Amino acid sequence: YLDNGNQIFKDARKNHYAVGAYNTNNLEWTRAILQAAEETRTPVLIQVSMGAAKYMGGYKVAKDLVEDEIDAMDISVPVVLNLDHGDFEAAKECIALGYSSVMFDGHALSTEENLAKTKEIVKLAHERGISVEAEIGKIGENQGAEGGELASVEDAKAFAAAGVDKLACGIGNIHGVYPADWKGLNFDRLKEIADAVSVPLVLHGGSGIPEDQVKKAISLGISKVNINTEFQLAFQAATRKYFEAHKDEDKDNKGYDPRKLLLPGTEAITASMKEMITWLGTPSID
Ligand code: G3H
Ligand code: ZN
Repeated sequence: YLDNGNQIFKDARKNHYAVGAYNTNNLEWTRAILQAAEETRTPVLIQVSMGAAKYMGGYKVAKDLVEDEIDAMDISVPVVLNLDHGDFEAAKECIALGYSSVMFDGHALSTEENLAKTKEIVKLAHERGISVEAEIGKIGENQGAEGGELASVEDAKAFAAAGVDKLACGIGNIHGVYPADWKGLNFDRLKEIADAVSVPLVLHGGSGIPEDQVKKAISLGISKVNINTEFQLAFQAATRKYFEAHKDEDKDNKGYDPRKLLLPGTEAITASMKEMITWLGTPSID
């Protein structure tokens, strides 16, 4: 059973904490994320990007994996399954498949088109009790060297009025690793938006933002913080370290067993997520 997260994120906004949204890629990521949520007794949002779904064999494979692991691991905390940065077709497909939440990312469209398409997705999703996240302004792309664009208060009002359940805002945040000369989050704009709309606000590009800025953003109205790159870095570092330390053990210790090779990285994701939960202030459910 998947939770649509509506109450979870409303509570977070009201009480000034955030709930993490973590991207999965495969079995190891899925288990690592669910493990950290269960150990901390906190609700969790697992999200699947279009690229990750393609890698896993489609949106249905990803959904089945998450649901089957919730079952197999006996997970008792609420889990939201969200399509991350979906285009119109992907959002419709995930609604039909029964994802409990979808993000329709229309940032590349004109505001009018983004709003019109978002409204269509809201209608389809809400008929089925599915939550919708929209994007206004633009999240920067460090890897693509694409600059971000500040979300406007006017757009925030229009998208909130369209009935979206969560709103991702460009506030100087960037996907991927932050450049050394990054100027930081635009708290003035975040505050203006938060004062104008009561919908839970989403901070994309959560990896690599200093702790004090994450906490300040949450105090101003951010209720969902998206983390992807951080887990990739944690997985990579732990895996490299393990490979280096065990490079001569292949023959003797069955060092070629993938279940051994992938374990340190998987555990590093769980550890990284548990630390992030303390930054976000996500309370335990009991
Ligand atoms: O939608 C997912 C994210 O915004 C994650 O960004 O890879 O910079 O943590 P990140
Ligand atoms: Zn994002």
